[in-house]
Amino acid sequence: MEEFKKVISKKWTERAPTFDDDHATEDITLWRETLEELICRKGNGSVLDIGTGTGFLANMISELGYCSVGIDFSEGMLEVGRQNTARRGTAVEYILGDGETLPFADNTFDAVVNCRVLWLLLDPVNAIKEWKRVLKPGGAVLSFVRITTPEEKAQMLSDTSGKMRYPKKVVQAMPLMAAAIDAHLAAYQDAGFHNPEAILLRRDLSLQEGAKPWYAFRGVKEQEPV
Ligand SMILES: C[S@@+](CC[C@H](N)C(=O)[O-])C[C@H]1O[C@@H](n2cnc3c(N)ncnc32)[C@H](O)[C@@H]1O
Repeated sequence: MEEFKKVISKKWTERAPTFDDDHATEDITLWRETLEELICRKGNGSVLDIGTGTGFLANMISELGYCSVGIDFSEGMLEVGRQNTARRGTAVEYILGDGETLPFADNTFDAVVNCRVLWLLLDPVNAIKEWKRVLKPGGAVLSFVRITTPEEKAQMLSDTSGKMRYPKKVVQAMPLMAAAIDAHLAAYQDAGFHNPEAILLRRDLSLQEGAKPWYAFRGVKEQEPV
């Protein structure tokens, strides 16, 4: 596992200098509105962004008024994130670390979010359990996912451009890679969330022609009985 994680983080550090080009087709205003609607705390509280990368969500979260913390195991991605935060005048605390084993106490955050990350995880059920642990009762884990198609998975396995190629054994160790909506919901349930939801997001979140729809998977941590 640890060896595979090193392979994945190294890939993202190599990718970091050009990764933000991928965000060029996304409607940031709409993303911010979507985040606000789903976090639903009007800028009050603290939010943890898992696999924050270059701070795509973490910077918007800060702009919305939340105390924003981003964690990622790729130092290269975080370095670009810090530059983005300085340029935008936002406030994000970036932490280098594994999003599957968090350095935070129980019940710390009002929301835990992640975007384009679930498919990369080697043990998504344990990761989601860990996110639930650091979440305050009443808070939500929100995972933003563009469902990867089996064709994309095949392409990733056969791509020889070197842009983002993992060894086959690493891709095969990613349970939610090219997984269907039900598999994401099952991972939330196995992690202890009752009645998780798959929320279909607005299609124009990505301005790209023919872009695949985004989903937000949401699990709410139950209040403890008094
Ligand atoms: C596709 S990028 C997404 C970055 C950002 N969330 C966004 O939407 O632009 C995936 C990020 O997840 C990070 N990542 C993957 N698995 C991780 C883990 N177990 N712990 C911490 N970061 C992880 C990678 O290093 C990479 O920066």
